[in-house]
Amino acid sequence: MINKSLIFSLLLFSGVTSSAQKTAVKPMAQLIDEEFRFATSQYKVLARNITPGKTPQSYQDGKPINKEITWWCSGFYSGSLWYIFEQTKDVAIKKQAEEALKLIEPNQTYTGNHDLGFMMYCSFGNAYRITGKPEYKAIINRSAESLASRYHEPVKAIQSWNKSKYWEYPVIIDNMMNLEMMNWVSDQGGDPKYKEISINHANTTLKNHFRPDFSSYHVIDYNPETGAVRRKATWQGAADCSAWSRGQGWALYGYIMMYRFTKNEAYLAQARGIAKFILNHPNLPADKIPFWDFDAQGIPYAKRDASAGALIASALLELGQYTPEDETKTYKAAAETMIYSLSTDAYRAKPGTNGGFLLMHSTGAYPLNIEIDVPLIYADYYYLEALARYKKWYLGNQK
Ligand code: GLY
Repeated sequence: MINKSLIFSLLLFSGVTSSAQKTAVKPMAQLIDEEFRFATSQYKVLARNITPGKTPQSYQDGKPINKEITWWCSGFYSGSLWYIFEQTKDVAIKKQAEEALKLIEPNQTYTGNHDLGFMMYCSFGNAYRITGKPEYKAIINRSAESLASRYHEPVKAIQSWNKSKYWEYPVIIDNMMNLEMMNWVSDQGGDPKYKEISINHANTTLKNHFRPDFSSYHVIDYNPETGAVRRKATWQGAADCSAWSRGQGWALYGYIMMYRFTKNEAYLAQARGIAKFILNHPNLPADKIPFWDFDAQGIPYAKRDASAGALIASALLELGQYTPEDETKTYKAAAETMIYSLSTDAYRAKPGTNGGFLLMHSTGAYPLNIEIDVPLIYADYYYLEALARYKKWYLGNQK
């Protein structure tokens, strides 16, 4: 059903063109179907731009950017392909997905960073969910063991990056996302220690990463011997005290996911607080696709981060599964606005363009002058996930 207030607000806001207004009146079921069909053809364009042995990351200045398999994003390509295959059953997409999985298999023993959850669960997790192949489950289990090697009891958190001249024991808010794999492995008959690690990590993060308004710091650096907080800082945000948009999205998604696995009300309360911070923020644009940082200089002319919009949309759709009906309506309407916005010409690429990526206008690391206003593989991944979640949860008989 079309949400009339959504159409009204879309017609009013200035950030999206008249094509957005046309798209806004499209029923969500039709939009989702069209977007998956578009993705099926567009990802065949993307496949042609991949350097053998690498995974697609972005497209900048007319050139594809591919990365080595230990890059934190290496699982999003196969994960996106599995989401597409699940909806369209396109056999060429399935073959692409299987090849992309094969390439990153060696990551299961990688221990160089905390990103194993992104790399191995977004990929093999979706592959296992869709195919049920036991070999995929074994790889996820092995990956959880590798990730567990970065957990240390004095801090009670998984170390994100290795010690460097900047940090002793950095833990970034993004790391909440890696807990999904850990919880899943324990719940699927694996060692319960992975879930215990996740709970400890989530509790440590709850204690130290958040401000009273539910916004999150990006990096907390710990003393590895005592677990004391050494510094609260940023790496990808506008300032130590700012609210880096994707980080707020990781926090939101992370605590909703932790609630799914534990039913701990404190995690749900945290997620609601984060959602409130994001959705009521005066700097959230009318199309609900955040600027790269809620405190970025130059708002309203600052760059957007479509990846944050896609990620937050997907997270809000899950949050709405756990809340009373009135509250669910708010999250659903916000997610709809985000999805509609992303599906317009303002963000969604025209067929055959954008190096084969679906979405434009994401920002990877503005202060480092890396990936500014470009397509990013994880923006596509969370956009596809949001579309699939909307279809599963909001177009059936469930609320
Ligand atoms: N996990 C890194 C990022 O969000 O850019």
